[in-house]
Amino acid sequence: MAMDPFILEWLNILVRWGHLVAGIAWIGTSFYFVALDLSLRDGQAWEVHGGGFYHVKKHMQAPAELPPNLIWFKWEAYLAWITGFLLLIIQYYVQADLYLTDPSVMVLTTWQAIGISVASLLGGWIIYDQLCKSPLGKHTGWLALSVYALIVLAAYGFSHVFSGRGAFIHVGAFIGTMMAANVFAVIIPNQSKITASLLKGEKPDPKYGMIGKQRSLHNTYLTLPVLFMMTSNHYAIITGHPQAWAIVGLVVLGGGVARHFLLRTEVHEDMAQIAWAIPVVALCLVGAVMLTEPAVSNVPAGLKVTDAEAFSIVQTRCVACHAANPSDASVKQAPKGIMFASIEDMKRYAKQIETQAVRNKAMPMGNKTGMLLEERQKLGAWIAAQ
Ligand code: HEC
Repeated sequence: MAMDPFILEWLNILVRWGHLVAGIAWIGTSFYFVALDLSLRDGQAWEVHGGGFYHVKKHMQAPAELPPNLIWFKWEAYLAWITGFLLLIIQYYVQADLYLTDPSVMVLTTWQAIGISVASLLGGWIIYDQLCKSPLGKHTGWLALSVYALIVLAAYGFSHVFSGRGAFIHVGAFIGTMMAANVFAVIIPNQSKITASLLKGEKPDPKYGMIGKQRSLHNTYLTLPVLFMMTSNHYAIITGHPQAWAIVGLVVLGGGVARHFLLRTEVHEDMAQIAWAIPVVALCLVGAVMLTEPAVSNVPAGLKVTDAEAFSIVQTRCVACHAANPSDASVKQAPKGIMFASIEDMKRYAKQIETQAVRNKAMPMGNKTGMLLEERQKLGAWIAAQ
């Protein structure tokens, strides 16, 4: 799809900015209200912030009269999803051949890739929603386990159809869509039912409140993992990893447990009750680091590569994009200002080349130039000799 790269860049910056702002606002209210709920004593909490004291009271049952200026918290979630989806379009759909697809993983046209993307986000929500509504939904442990399995399975699936980056952003979008749909399709409609029966002077069914609370708790557990998926996209050691789905498994577990620890610490829960979380988070992190650690050497011993040979590999596989005037139709300027015009340029960027194209397969982007494993090894040998 063609769009002026200048306009595309500005759209990208502005929508990304909006997405960050909405996301921060959403996470803030989400964490705040769950922490508030945990900190209630006899339905009340005293808080201090910004020079004032706040005395907050939770009405489990309906207040006798519904206040006219009731504040709803929903636009943070809706805007976070809307800006996120726009960003997915700008970055991944419009530039699918660069960022979303990788012919060495699966040959897909842009429209096929977009179709898989949209269907998977929708399908993920439907499956998750049905899991919550099924008998499993009454058993927190089993439900958590099945949602966890759903996410890891999705990560496995995505990494077999999309590029590394495309797969990772889709795991984030998959979870983010479940979270936003929780607000849109469950929490707010249930709250509206409660409000409607209050206005009629009836007693609302407490089940609506309980379902809403369950989904809102899920959302806080998913927040930290989602942030990792969204921000890890620039790191070749993560997205270029062949077992990226296993990294997802560790991050979702570690991030969820970290959320537990953070919120419980916030409300001064006894350390003895929550200390177990620290080694679990540490183990997940160490596991992810070990998983991504490069093999001692993926370069055959004794391989000698001349400057001229290394230069020629980079000329065939990289300069379609990394040049003053890129020949690749989707790239108008050397990405990140990186150009490989001389052997000196290659020496200057040797470390980055090693990370991006030797130890990981993040470059060439979407392997558009069809780089071979043998060429990666040769570049590795040349870099090792520098
Ligand atoms: C099809 C176009 C294309 C090709 C071919 C390509 N790159 Fe890139 N490269 C990009 C784009 C786009 C980015 C910017 C990615 C981003 O915004 O995170 C990039 C970024 C990079 C970076 C900076 C990464 C970072 O995040 O710091 C390095 C280093 C790099 N490429 C090396 C290479 C090498 C080495 C090759 C050849 C083996 C290569 N690239 C081939 C498109 C390409």
